[in-house]
This record gives sequence, C-alpha cells and structure tokens, in this order.
Amino acid sequence: MYVEALELSRYRNYEKLSIELTPNLNIFVGNNAQGKTNLMESVYLLATGRSHRTFRDGELINWDREKAQVKARIKSSMGRFTMRVILSRNNRKRFWIGGEELNRQSDLMGYVNVILFSPDDLQLVKGSPSLRRHFIDLCLAQVSRVYRHDLVNYTKVLQQRNNLLKELLGQKPQSELLSVWNEQLIELGSRVMYRRAVAIEIMARFASVSHSQISGGDEVLTMRYQPFYNTGLHNKSISMEEIAQEFNEALEKNKKQELRRGTTVVGPQRDDILFEIGGKNARQFASQGQQRTIVLATKLAELEFMQEEVGEYPILLLDDVLSELDLSRRTAFLETIGNKVQTLLTTTDRGHFSPGDCLDIREYTIHDGQLTLGE
Ligand SMILES: Nc1ncnc2c1ncn2[C@@H]1O[C@H](COP(=O)(O)OP(=O)(O)OP(=O)(O)O)[C@@H](O)[C@H]1O
Ligand SMILES: [Mg+2]
Repeated sequence: MYVEALELSRYRNYEKLSIELTPNLNIFVGNNAQGKTNLMESVYLLATGRSHRTFRDGELINWDREKAQVKARIKSSMGRFTMRVILSRNNRKRFWIGGEELNRQSDLMGYVNVILFSPDDLQLVKGSPSLRRHFIDLCLAQVSRVYRHDLVNYTKVLQQRNNLLKELLGQKPQSELLSVWNEQLIELGSRVMYRRAVAIEIMARFASVSHSQISGGDEVLTMRYQPFYNTGLHNKSISMEEIAQEFNEALEKNKKQELRRGTTVVGPQRDDILFEIGGKNARQFASQGQQRTIVLATKLAELEFMQEEVGEYPILLLDDVLSELDLSRRTAFLETIGNKVQTLLTTTDRGHFSPGDCLDIREYTIHDGQLTLGE
C-alpha cells in the first residue's frame, strides 16, 4: 500500500499543500522547524486517527485557523481510495473513506498502515515498559480488528474493576463482587496476551536477522515477550490456556493486595518486551548506537510481520533517524527496504544519502511549510 497524493490545509505550519509521492523512496530535506515532522505526523494521523506527538487535536490546527484537513489518495490491494480527516476547534474530529463518513475513530485503522520511526523511539529499549506495550499494541491494532476490540474491551473491564476496588477501599472486603469482573478480565486479557506472545515470537525471528544484517553480524539480538506473571526468562511458546491459568492464579494471589491498594495489580497492562544483545539485557547495557540498531531491527521486523498479516507492506515514516547511523548501517538499511516499501524519510542534510540506483526516489525541499520538488 502507498500514498499516491497528499493534501494538507491549515494543518500546523502548512497553509495549503498538495504533493504526489512515489511508491518507493520519498526524501524530505529541510532545516529545523520547517515542517518535516508535521508532514510525517499528518500521514500517521490518517492511519491511526491521532497524532504521535499530542493527544490535543487542537494543536494540529494552524494557530490562526478554526479547522484543518488532511486528505490522501491511497493505493492498496483494496484499490484506490481517498481518506480524509477534518479537525476543528469546536467539534470532534471526523473521518471519511471515499464519500463515507466513519462512526468511530477506531474504524479508521487498517485502511492504511504505518510504521513510524522518530528519535523518540530510541526510548523503546531503555524507556518504560508502557512504550514497549504501545509499540506492540499499535502494530496489532493496525493489522487486527479483533485485537482492537479485545484491547478496548479489556481496558473498559479493567477500568470498571478498578472503580469497584476503589469503592471497596476501607470497607470490609467483599471479594465475591470482584469475581464477577474476573472472568471477563481473564478472558479478554488472555486473548490480548496470547496475540502479543505470538506476534512477538514471529517478530523476534525477523528482528534477529535484520539486526545481524545491519550490525554486520557481530552481535546477536533476541527479543522476547515478558508476560506480567513471568519476570524470569521465557523461551518456549505459551498457550492461551496457560495464560488464562496464570492470570487466574495471579489474581488469587494478589487479592489482598488489590483490596488494600484499591487497584488491579496484575494483567497485560503490566506486560513487557525484553531485548538482549549477546545474552545481556539491552535495557541495562546497550550503547546509544546499539539501541538505535535494535530499534531499527525491531521496526524492520514489524514491517515484515505486518506484511505477513496483511499481505502488503505498511508505509514507513522515518523522521530524522537515519543520519546518525554510520554510512554502512544506513546503506544496509536502505538496501533492505529496497523497492518493496513506500518510505517517507526526512533529513536536515541531503548529503547523508546515497541509496544506490535501484530505488525510485522523489525528493522535496521543505521551507517554512512550503514544498518544492527537487533540490
Ligand atoms: N498549530 C500550529 N500552527 C502553526 N505552526 C505550528 C503549529 N504547530 C507547530 N507549528 C510550527 O511548525 C514548525 C515546524 O515544526 P516541525 O516539528 O515539523 O519541524 P521540523 O522540520 O521537523 O524540525 P526539526 O528538524 O527541528 O525536527 C515549528 O516551527 C512549529 O512552531
Ligand atoms: Mg522534526
């Protein structure tokens, strides 16, 4: 799938923009504060319904305006269609596929898939577990409607259970009330966890291959799912039954603590992903360059995983991340994505890229929210 054309109106620092993209490599060159990230963000918004930088949609509308629009013509196995998002200061945001308006933001996902890699993603290795959960959730939400629904419903049940626990605080414990919620919590939670486990197992294989390609083969990356109940190392595949059983036992074991603290202390909201380089925990030991390579390998693994699930590659958004790789890693990376993935790449320095002849390249210069084709 790819974006054939993109139009922005009154979006951030873009008053009016209309560009065509190549299905291969699109390079956007510009100095700081010219609109490179804003452009990446607009494509991310079309795919996921929200910005990767803010929850406040009002920030996406140009300061002097009331409304903004992002529109794109997409080509995918579903055919050719347009997607449109309208943001306004006083109303909720609205989404269209072709002429048809969508009822819910979550219905937007799956029409066009993206993988974004920005400098913030370097936190994936050393940052909090919530970042790693967000990574796997966004990936699975894009490829699976069932996962989307399970995750939303799990979160609702968790919220309701937490409300009840809060109400019970300071009262005589009545844990029977809780068991009403436990069944649903375990059922939905186990489905979410099982899907994560399977996906990470598949991605781990791709990640280790990409990682050795990018790093020249001297380092071995392992990536592993760490379900909330298991803090030790875990190599074998897990089953849905095992997860449900562990979840049930963990709830039993922590009943007293939950009633004392007034919140649910176990569940997939406590899951994590473990990265290791040569058997050493990357969260503790990886250098800056190693973290960068791990994240890159992980994003490439996500790319292959999504391709297997959906039958086509998602769109790759690389916001200012390649220039800090050394030349050989950068070239290896661009060779790996080759002609198969539509890539939108931003950089402050065009001199950093020599992606070979195989790629169809389109290059834009960004200056103050205006794009010009060519250098
Ligand atoms: N709602 C808005 N209305 C108008 N301008 C905005 C709005 N939001 C952000 N901007 C401006 O857009 C400009 C470009 O931002 P952007 O983050 O895209 O820069 P960039 O090209 O990615 O820069 P860098 O290389 O530093 O990452 C900034 O100067 C910012 O002040
Ligand atoms: Mg930027």
